[in-house]
This record gives sequence, C-alpha cells and structure tokens, in this order.
Amino acid sequence: MYGLCGRDLLSIADLSIEELKFILSTAKQLKQRFYAGERVIPLLNGKVLAMIFQKPSTRTRVSLEVAMLQLGGYALNLSWNELQLGRGEPIKDTARVLSRYIDGIAARVYSHGDLVELAKYSDKPVINALSDLEHPLQAIGDMMTILEKKGHLSGLKMAFVGDGGDNVLHSLLLASAKLGINLYIATPKGYDPKPEIMKLAMEDARLSDAVIEIVRDPIEAVKEADVVYTDVWVSMGQESEREKRVRDLAPYQVNSDLVKYAKKDYIFMHCLPAKRGEEVTEEVIESPNSIVWDQAENRLHAQKAVLALLLRS
Ligand code: CP
Ligand code: NVA
Repeated sequence: MYGLCGRDLLSIADLSIEELKFILSTAKQLKQRFYAGERVIPLLNGKVLAMIFQKPSTRTRVSLEVAMLQLGGYALNLSWNELQLGRGEPIKDTARVLSRYIDGIAARVYSHGDLVELAKYSDKPVINALSDLEHPLQAIGDMMTILEKKGHLSGLKMAFVGDGGDNVLHSLLLASAKLGINLYIATPKGYDPKPEIMKLAMEDARLSDAVIEIVRDPIEAVKEADVVYTDVWVSMGQESEREKRVRDLAPYQVNSDLVKYAKKDYIFMHCLPAKRGEEVTEEVIESPNSIVWDQAENRLHAQKAVLALLLRS
C-alpha cells in the first residue's frame, strides 16, 4: 500500500504527493463505509496505539481513540506526566520500552525535537499529534474536508489570516503545495512561516503549480478566496507572549468586514479550539459559510486512514 506500512508521520513532508492523495481517498472510503453502517472495520484487529499527550487535547485525543476502536484496535491514553517521562526518564528509553508493548505511538509535544527523538528510538510508527512545528493530522483532515465541500483541490484559493508561524499553518502550507491549492498567508512582519517549511513548500509548489504567497494585507489574501482559514493567535506554550501577540495580530481578525471580499460560497475553516473575539468573530464562526464542525468530524475519518495504512502489518 504505497509503502506506508511501518512509517512515521512527523510532518506532511514525510509523504509524497501520491501517498497524501492515497490517504485522502482511503479516508473518503472509510467515511462512506461508516455512514453505510460499518461501524467497525477491523483493519487493526488487536493492535494497540499508545497516545502520549504533553498538552491538552479534545479533538485529536478523542478521535484517535475512537478511530482505533472503530478499526478493531485499542488506544492507551498516556499523559506525559503520568509516565516516568515526567520524572526524567529519557525519551529514547521510553521509546524502546513502549515499542515492545504496542504497535504505534501518537504523541503531542511542546518541542518537535522530542518527536524526532521518539521516532529515532521507536521500532513502531510514531505519529505527530501536534508539535510546536506541525500538525499533520489536522492538515490531512482539512484537505479531506475541502475536497468534500469543493469537489477538487487544485486551483482553489485559500487565505490563511493570522499567525504565520502557526503549527497548523505549517502543515497546511506543505499539504497545499503538494495538492495544488493556491495559499495566500496574511500575517504581520515578524510572524512569517519558518523558512525551512517555506523552502519545502516552494519545492512542491513548483511541481503542482500552486501559488504560495505571504502578504501583509488581509484583504489581498481573502479577495475571491474559496477557503478562509485561521487559528488562534496564542498557541499552547506561547501564553507568556499573549499581550504582544494579541496586539500585533489584532488587524488580522477574520470578521464580517473581511469575509465580504471572499467568494460568496467561501468556506470558513478553523482547526479549533477557537477564541471568539480574537482571531475570529462569533458572527463568522457561526455563519452558514462556517464548516468547522464537519471539519472537526473529518479528523476521525482521516485518522482512521492514517492509522490503518501506517499500523497495518
Ligand atoms: N484541532 C485540534 O487538534 O484540537 P485539539 O487540541 O482539541 O486536539
Ligand atoms: N496552534 C494551536 C493549535 C491547536 C490545535 C496550538 O498549538 O495551540
């Protein structure tokens, strides 16, 4: 199956264009089968996923756990601090021990380097459940959602308005570049995406003909957009920078005045949790154009595809 079996997923950059498309088509099939009444599709019968969370999570944790159950497997929810990791046991020792018990690890960490270390020493696939650098599971679910709503991906215009250094945006950037979505990022100076992510995205964009641009004017990004996306201004772990971030990002709020520049049938997306009154107004997130609940639902189906393809022997 495209050689995904046994692989890690730390970044969207770990996937080729074909592999990413294959995950999306598998996710669509699994969702259709679920809606047709197949609640359990035992592709991972008896397999166990260890979930290590260093930060809070609602969507990722619950959807991973439900996904394992619906694939005939089981998920162990382990908080970082309840493991000996919290008392200083090295990541490399934890990785080698867990690998003897379980079939895969999903981890949400502060530092992306910790995931790289975990993956280096784990014999079993390690999946990024969000780090300071990326959120690949979110981007895969989001691509599935855009495809479902718009019928195609290549050639669409997506505007991301807000924090250009955001982990979710980094994964969206890489996925958009692979799939041919034209992504306009409206962010202030000092908040640009990480150069190494931009470099990788530009390489893929050359192949897919995607336009990837950083602009300072939110109206320029949103003009005639098919998709308007935002995320929080203060991500987990950035709480000490709250005051400065809220001040700097205030002109980048997604509100009714801004979205009137988008196409009439634009969709509003947000990975959630949202901070109403900061990056988005109540009016926009609750509007008929907002598809955030369908987007959240698709995390489940997209993750079932990722788990089934990576953990299957
Ligand atoms: N979008 C997302 O990953 O949400 P959680 O933090 O609730 O998992
Ligand atoms: N950028 C946010 C995403 C939460 C799913 C954070 O890291 O807190």
